[in-house]
Formats: sequence, C-alpha cells, structure tokens
Amino acid sequence: MNFEEVREMEMGSVMQTYGRVPVALVKGHGAVAEDIDGKTYIDFTSGIGVNALGFSDSEWARAVAEQAGQIQHMSNYYYCVPQIELAKELTALAGMDKVFFCNSGAEANECAIKIARRWGVLNGKGSRVITLGNSFHGRTLTTLAATGQDVFHVHFTPLTEGFVYAEANDIESVRALADDSVCAVLMEMVQGEGGVIPMDEAFVQEVRALCDEKKMLLMIDEVQTGVGRTGTFYAYQGYGIQPDVVTTAKGIAGGLPMGACLCSAALSGILTAGMNGSTFGGNPVACAGALSVIRRVGKAEFLQDVQEKGAYMMKKLAQMPGVSFVRGRGMMIGVKLSGDQDAHDVLVRCAEAGLLVLTAKELIRFLPPLTITYDEIDRGLEIFASVIA
Ligand SMILES: Cc1ncc(COP(=O)(O)O)c(C=O)c1O
Repeated sequence: MNFEEVREMEMGSVMQTYGRVPVALVKGHGAVAEDIDGKTYIDFTSGIGVNALGFSDSEWARAVAEQAGQIQHMSNYYYCVPQIELAKELTALAGMDKVFFCNSGAEANECAIKIARRWGVLNGKGSRVITLGNSFHGRTLTTLAATGQDVFHVHFTPLTEGFVYAEANDIESVRALADDSVCAVLMEMVQGEGGVIPMDEAFVQEVRALCDEKKMLLMIDEVQTGVGRTGTFYAYQGYGIQPDVVTTAKGIAGGLPMGACLCSAALSGILTAGMNGSTFGGNPVACAGALSVIRRVGKAEFLQDVQEKGAYMMKKLAQMPGVSFVRGRGMMIGVKLSGDQDAHDVLVRCAEAGLLVLTAKELIRFLPPLTITYDEIDRGLEIFASVIA
C-alpha cells in the first residue's frame, strides 16, 4: 500500500473525527519515525506525550513482549502481579497512598470525580467540582463538562451537572466559588490543550491552602504533564504541594493504553468494592510497559536530563527568528509565532519538511520523547527554523 491507498481506505471506513496530517507512520526508533513511503521524520510529538521512551524502545518492547508471552489478561477478579508491583512503585514516586488503574486520561478523571463526590457525601459537602477556564479534562460527557471551554460543550448537551469554572491564576475567582456545595478543585499544572499555559507557583500554593481552609479536595490532572514530562515525575512536585488526588495517563505505559487515579491515605477507603471498575484496567501487558517506563523516568538523573533538554530547546527557540515567545515547563513547550503565521499551516509544512509537531490553540506545541538526543533536537529545530523563516 502507498499513502494514497491508505487515505482512501481510511475515508471509506473510519469515522471522520480527526483532522489528520497526511502522514502514515509505519515504524520508528527513538525520536525518528518512518512513513509508509520510506520518508523519515524527527518526532517532537511522542504521539501527544505518550511515547515517553520514544518509538519501540528495545528494553520496553522486551518487557511488553515477555509479559504478553506469559499471560496477557486475567481480569480484575484475580490478583495481577505486574499491576501490584506497579501500584507500589507508582504510589511511592507520587507520594500517594493507593491507585485505581484504567485505560485513559478521561477514565482516570472520571474516577477522581467519583472519589470527590463520594467524599463530599460522607463529609457533608455538595457534589460540585471547581475546574478552571481553558482547561481540558477529556472527552466523556462528564470530563467534557469538567473541561472549562464552551467549544467542547455545545454539541452534546445535556452534560453531567455540577461543574463550576474559575479563572486560571486568579485565586479570588476560585475563592468566590468555594462554598459548601463544592467538594473539590480539579486542575492541570500546565494547561496543555489550552495552549501550554503553566500555572503560577503562588496560585497553586494558594489553591492548596484554600482547599485546606474550605475543606475541598485538591485533584491534579497530570494526564499530559505527568511521568517526567515537565522535569519532575509529576508536575506538582515542582510546585511544592501535595494533592489529595492525582490522575495520570498518556506517557505512563510508554505507548500502551493506561490511565490511573491516585489518592492520599485519607481517601484510600472512599471507593469500596463494586463502586468502580474497568475490564482492561491494570492489564498485565500495559503494567509491564509502565514498570519499564517508571523505573527509568523516575530516576533523578533522568528527570534532570529532561529539565536540561527542555531548557536547551526553549533557549534556542526563544532566539529563533519568527518566534514571538516560548512558554512551558521541561519538555512541554509552546511556541507562539510572530506575524500572521497560522499554527496548523506550519504543522503541515513541518511534516512535509520531515518534522512532526503539534499545535495547542494558536501555538505550536512540542512534546518530544523524553529520551530524545541533543543531535535529534538540533536536527528538529533546524527544520523548524527553516519552515518558519
Ligand atoms: C490534561 C488532560 N486531561 C485529560 C485528557 C484526556 O486523556 P485521554 O485522551 O487519554 O482520555 C487529556 C488529553 O489530551 C489531557 O491533556
């Protein structure tokens, strides 16, 4: 098959819910991918922050293949050793007490919202959750409602009730909503889909203090920021706070579907048998992949390297002609182009020139594999500079 045949088949058989870039990737290694016609690309996307260790990392692939050859699934009726090992190591890295495994970021956020509402019932609080304007929390009807952007709400009403929206980086707007009807605040540390907008440290610490004062749970959506992306294992660890609930997905299993919701010791008994479940949640093959990821990404030297590579990229981008400003944390980077260059148009031209990038609102967004080399960064930035010149 060539690309045109792939495109025709896709149009004839797949719901057209994605605005796809005209590229069909068939293999990859590290931060270099190859398409069906043999053309290669430097990857600054990692499959939207998923391939934390790059394409087909050999150690990760071996761990996944070995587990698939042992037992690929057994259901949550039975104890699953890789799941339990992962739970122990992940909760230790996050400084949390217990975890529920599922398959995606949206499903992890659904679990967090269930914990918050159940906790609210048991603690004389209402069922409302404060989220932030411009946030993104997923595509289910409840996580769409949690998402603080009207554009995501319009087509699918009625959505789940009980979400109220404060302004990011504006503590007074959070305080104004924080009455007894509210059981929790749910927020990202860096709004990813919203345009790579880091929260101010003071704001995050004030939200933590407000949650303590008003008896609300603080729930951090680390779906995009988590697992080393911002240079700490979870982004909140760079903000000097400890949340009550954390959700994680994307990069955690290095390219296999996995989500998880972590909670503090005080919340570990809130959901009891029968209150939540997921057929594939904590699947042993995904857990083997995740163990391979977190055992590497969780190391201090690895995270230091992410910080240094992120700073290197941001510095070079800030000096690049055609760039208006750069923002982000670690290797989660947003670039605003100067003039009237359209971000989507630049994305398509980058792909033509052999570089895969993302957009977030009007920004170009880079989420490279965390293992990308300096040579690959330089080659990618060279292509980017030539495209926007
Ligand atoms: C912050 C955040 N939360 C939740 C989600 C939803 O994750 P998923 O697509 O795995 O359901 C995303 C996806 O982009 C995200 O960036």
